Amino acid sequence: MKPKQVLCGLFLGGLLQAFTVEGRTHITVILVGATGDLARKYLWQGLFQTYMEQVDSGRHSLCFYGGTRLHATEGSLAMFEILRGLSCLPRVPSVKCSMLKDQFIKLSRYQQLDTVEDFSNLNRKIEEQLAQEGLEEEGRLFYLSVPPFAYVNITAKVDATCRPKKSSSWLRVVLEKPFGHDLESAQQLAEELQKYLHEEEMYRIDHYLGKQPIADILSFRHDNQHFLDPIWNQHHIERVEIVMKETLDAKGRTGFYERYGVICDVVQNHLTEILTFVAMETPANISDSDEIHRNKMKVYSSLQKLSRRSAVIGQYQAYNGEVVQELKKPADYRSNVATFAGIGIFLDSPRWDGVPFILSAGKALDERVGYARILFKNTAFCLQSESTRRAEFSQCQPKQIIFYVGHGDLNFPAILVSRNLFKPVMSSANWKPMLDVPDLHVFGLPLSDYHVFTPVMQKEAYAVLILQVLRARRDSFVNTEDLLASWMFWTPLLKELSWESPRLYPGGLQNGHLLDFILAGQVVYFSTPDPATVISPGLEQQSTGTYKVLESSYREKKLVSAGTEEVIAELASHLQRTAEATVRRSGRFHLALSGGSSPLHLFQRLATFHHAFPWKQTHFWAVDERCVPLHDANSNFRSLHDHLLVHFKIPYLNIHPMPVHMNRRLCVEEDHGADLYANEIRTLVNDSSFDFVLLGVGTDGHTASLFSHSQALAQDSKLVMLSESPVKPHQRMTLSLSTINRAKKVAILITGKNKHPIVSKMSKMETNPEKWPVTSVQPSSGELVWYIDSDALFG
Ligand code: BG6
Repeated sequence: MKPKQVLCGLFLGGLLQAFTVEGRTHITVILVGATGDLARKYLWQGLFQTYMEQVDSGRHSLCFYGGTRLHATEGSLAMFEILRGLSCLPRVPSVKCSMLKDQFIKLSRYQQLDTVEDFSNLNRKIEEQLAQEGLEEEGRLFYLSVPPFAYVNITAKVDATCRPKKSSSWLRVVLEKPFGHDLESAQQLAEELQKYLHEEEMYRIDHYLGKQPIADILSFRHDNQHFLDPIWNQHHIERVEIVMKETLDAKGRTGFYERYGVICDVVQNHLTEILTFVAMETPANISDSDEIHRNKMKVYSSLQKLSRRSAVIGQYQAYNGEVVQELKKPADYRSNVATFAGIGIFLDSPRWDGVPFILSAGKALDERVGYARILFKNTAFCLQSESTRRAEFSQCQPKQIIFYVGHGDLNFPAILVSRNLFKPVMSSANWKPMLDVPDLHVFGLPLSDYHVFTPVMQKEAYAVLILQVLRARRDSFVNTEDLLASWMFWTPLLKELSWESPRLYPGGLQNGHLLDFILAGQVVYFSTPDPATVISPGLEQQSTGTYKVLESSYREKKLVSAGTEEVIAELASHLQRTAEATVRRSGRFHLALSGGSSPLHLFQRLATFHHAFPWKQTHFWAVDERCVPLHDANSNFRSLHDHLLVHFKIPYLNIHPMPVHMNRRLCVEEDHGADLYANEIRTLVNDSSFDFVLLGVGTDGHTASLFSHSQALAQDSKLVMLSESPVKPHQRMTLSLSTINRAKKVAILITGKNKHPIVSKMSKMETNPEKWPVTSVQPSSGELVWYIDSDALFG
């Protein structure tokens, strides 16, 4: 057999040598966007590092193309200037390094990559080289370091012209985020890309998955499974913090930032990916990308939906000015984009039930630091004095495991395990124990109280990931299913927050405690009031507490209005006062609750602050229900259950969901579900008169599931009936207007700017049950109070 010769990519003794390579294969790496910022800062360096490692392992020969839309003369000048500036790794002797750098530069070529012909030319050059040098092609790696709007165009050209000839050779295309800014745009981009690339050919980079402590979370968990299995759960873990603080602001990137904001920029991707690695079940085989993917998807499906009150957001004070200047906006432009976010996430799983995952990220903060911290519960009480305790044995010290990305006080990547937990094992050759620890305190403990592991060799995330592409380790990348699951999780919150004004913060150390936040139950709130909304001294007489709550009238009934939180707080207090008085009088409290998004805030408020509520004496009824199984995410009962009932010990007999699911079918007239519910009301509720009914209002003026011109309005003599909604799910069960109007108290809660048009219309309109069912809510002998937040009232 004729020996194969390699002229590309492997060097011995400092000379470019032709030599025989049996079984050695060739890879061509093409960096598109070769002179951009990312390429200049990280990618060429990562490719150089990959090259050095491949030289050591000698598995493949490699050569590199850099391409931009620029003509060869101009483009190659810029590209080779970057290559000449590449730096060596500390552990590589400088003579060897400069030799390797020389070789790397010789192996790199510039190719204009603009038109289809350019890509065809590239293909021709690759083919010629393979043929001339008798190389066995292993594959081609295209790294697209270009704005996302160019992805589809470039992948179409790659697909049309640059696929390897042999079916056994691979094509891999690396893509840089952003991959959309919400579910819809991510879906659209994914569909476009799928026209040209197979799923296994796409490598979406999340560079945090290449940060060494993050890249090795799973191998750490796997190696230490013996210790972790009994404690990696809700019974032992108090909370998980996943944090990425930056001192830089968005200056110079406001065009990008205005579109994405902090949640799309780093939370939806970097921090969420980390969450999945902490929360997933430990894979039996950590080299099995498919198993890791399956476990990740299970985490996504267990994430509880976020509500507006799951997050706090802030904006760096100087950001708006930067936007005005860089994007040439009018001077009175007001951006609502968040540059800081704090979010509380919960999972529905036996392992993580009730454990908060606190995610936080922001620009212009007091320090640059990133970490995932798992904080364990501490139930021990120690008598021994602090000075005589030894960290290994003291159960009183904090117990934590920290995957420390870097910067901050420690200033190097590390994995830290409190000595009072266990002595970790690390099978990966990438980590070594740090024996001589610096005199530092981190997360409340001296560093000497931890087992500290540091990388044997610090590597740039991009270098780690480029190597993972060559190894086809798809678990280090984001596939389409992960990506869409993550956007599905974040998009509703992003929509809700787009109505909110972020809290302004001055930046850096001056932020003080302004951005500290508290997670109480499932509600996240800033721990100090917003200085911008605290009432000025002159207005204090009109306010309750620090905030102004307006009491006035609306449709001739009492109106309570203020910011959303204050309105909800007032309503929750009203509800508790009524419940207490009713229980004192009659021993129980019959409460009928509606579905929709506004009551969720109330449920969360009650769950967080109203532990003294007479929960055990309260009977829960539904105002209306969607004809879906009770466990369905659209079920009103499901959201009442998840946001309120789970938090208290409520007797089973006090819970009265509407019987929409009978005989294994949904809301069928002949099953008489509505009559059954009516009978239950008649039996248990004195005079069928609820003590308190909470209603919402739709943008079309419906309330409960009573829609305009609906047949249900005509059957008002019934207590409960089936109805039809114009929006999905169409079939509903609802209390009738007459049942609602028999109640002793009715509260109508309306929040959000999108409700402003209906609030404004209703303020002028006459009662018209046919057209605007809510206008006919007029308790015959009870009280009606409107709770309308300022967004809905003033728009
Ligand atoms: C990027 C974000 O993904 O990560 C930037 O777009 C952010 O806004 C950067 O500054 C931070 O990365 P690192 O590696 O410096 O922590």
